[in-house]
Amino acid sequence: MSWRFEYYETLGSTSDLCKARAEVGEPEHLAIQAFSQTSGRGTRGRTWTDPGGNLAISLLFRPADPKAFIAALPFVVAVALFETATHFCSIVTGPSRFMLKWPNDLLMHGRKMAGVLIETGGLQGNSWVVVGIGANLRQAPEIPGRRLAALVEATDPPSAEVFGKVLVTQIERWALIREREGFAPVRAAWLARAHPVGTPLAVQRCETYITGSFSGLDAQGRLLLALPHGETIPVVTGDILLD
Ligand code: BTN
Repeated sequence: MSWRFEYYETLGSTSDLCKARAEVGEPEHLAIQAFSQTSGRGTRGRTWTDPGGNLAISLLFRPADPKAFIAALPFVVAVALFETATHFCSIVTGPSRFMLKWPNDLLMHGRKMAGVLIETGGLQGNSWVVVGIGANLRQAPEIPGRRLAALVEATDPPSAEVFGKVLVTQIERWALIREREGFAPVRAAWLARAHPVGTPLAVQRCETYITGSFSGLDAQGRLLLALPHGETIPVVTGDILLD
């Protein structure tokens, strides 16, 4: 599949531009990348701080089977991010420095290195999916109360253009696996790269915390949380806090 890459020095948000283009009928497989963003957006209305030189990319999809595509997408992108980051760290000895956190954060040495914002919209006949991905390559923004990492701590990082190209190839690869073989191999790949089963965690929703331990991922991609008294519940949304 051939992607049309557009590069900008500075944008407000690559996802905002990608969505605007989607709304006016841009065909899928547009990739918009910026060297820096002035109003990068994160999940749950948060700001994504982008000091420049990191990866800020948004990808436009128009899937034929939106429901199945969107359900698997966080895991497809997460595995692709893990593979891309690993690819640039040539020698990995001992346990990997990277780990996925449900559903699609990439952690490095336990600190967030990359995140994904998935947005959908458009009226019938013009529906779109925009995947925005931010990865700290050269600088981890300093945000009070947040523990962030950058790839530069492990290796001499590639340019954002090169990282973006490899990432898109990996996303295509895993999206194709999902299309041909269903969600099961993507789920297995995600589980092999994520916090191990039994990891203690808390799910935060607004000011509420539910604590338990990770007990897997169900066929819909919901996180299974084992509660202290023995019950296991599926989690659809919320921030995951690891120790
Ligand atoms: C998160 O909160 O974990 C998701 C962060 C997503 C940030 C990326 S950077 C490229 C794209 N443009 C944006 O404004 N946001 C996403």
